Amino acid sequence: EKGTYAHYMLKEMDEQPAVIRNIIQHYQNENGDIELTEGVRELVSEADRVYIVACGTSYHAGLVGKQLIERVAGVPTEVHVASEFGYNMPLLTEKPLFLFISQSGETADSRAVLVEVKKLGHKALTLTNVAGSTLSREANETMLLHAGPEIAVASTKAYTAQIAVLAILAYDIARANGKKLPFDLMQELALVATTMDSIMAQKEIFEELADKFLKESRNAFFLGRGLDSYVGLEGALKLKEISYIQAEGYPGGELKHGPIALIEDGTPVITLVSQPNTHLNIRGNIKEVVARGAVACTISMEGMEHENDAFVLPRVEPLLTPLVTVLPLQLISYYAALARDCDVDKPRNLAKSVTVE
Ligand code: M6R
Repeated sequence: EKGTYAHYMLKEMDEQPAVIRNIIQHYQNENGDIELTEGVRELVSEADRVYIVACGTSYHAGLVGKQLIERVAGVPTEVHVASEFGYNMPLLTEKPLFLFISQSGETADSRAVLVEVKKLGHKALTLTNVAGSTLSREANETMLLHAGPEIAVASTKAYTAQIAVLAILAYDIARANGKKLPFDLMQELALVATTMDSIMAQKEIFEELADKFLKESRNAFFLGRGLDSYVGLEGALKLKEISYIQAEGYPGGELKHGPIALIEDGTPVITLVSQPNTHLNIRGNIKEVVARGAVACTISMEGMEHENDAFVLPRVEPLLTPLVTVLPLQLISYYAALARDCDVDKPRNLAKSVTVE
């Protein structure tokens, strides 16, 4: 039930810090160490490459998951849109691990791939929010998101839950492979939850930003580099599905190879600046669009901020930034949809779960 909330989406965004705390509890043992089931551990320790298969927001979480698995565990990882994978299968390694990411566990495009993969005799792990869902039952193993029911069509808490669980999985693969772990994951996730609380306590700022930048706008750009560019894709998807504003997510450096032609006077460009290794590059990209008339709405992270930034996020571990950078984008999309009188929880043409191929 949505209780006093105007919309499920707002409630579900608000639940995100609690979901992260819930995930920490479910995946740690009494010593505070990550504990996965024997079955999951066995599956991941055998894999020479991970193939992530998903759709929509879950695909965007997969892009972040690839970075986590490669950088933490050192295992090559590919990310595929499910509807493409079945018909254009890449070359597979000898011991592939298939990782299906799906909030509902019922998405037909992903189910079709799982059927093919099983025919080939490969193993699969499903990350889902719904215990007993089809993708969970048909895979060898399941990791649950523990996010509670997600009702709004626009996925929010499932995305952050997926990333947190992917980080836990990456840590476990790293451990299975005898890798040195870069930081205390559970401690950093707890810090993420606190940071999420502080962002959610400042919603009115994002309402103002949505009014200022998006209320009257036909289109919008989301820029970033590295992890920020993946979160930008998610921001663009969120905005287009609930506010019907045409939105493009782009890696900052790619803009001048074409899309910059679309920038005109007043085009809103929402940029994330949270990656220490590229923050100067993305600042250059912001200058390029502003010189062509764009209005910049920049969301940065402490230590990389500039005085004209619209919002400065508290610092979190660079590999975990998507868990916090996505919140402003979710909130801005929500308030933009409200300002434009759109049906936030039930956008046109969309269903919560896409059960046809
Ligand atoms: O249930 P799933 O995670 O498999 O759903 C995948 C997509 O259909 C879903 O994420 C969709 O893109 C959302 N409406 C995005 O907000």
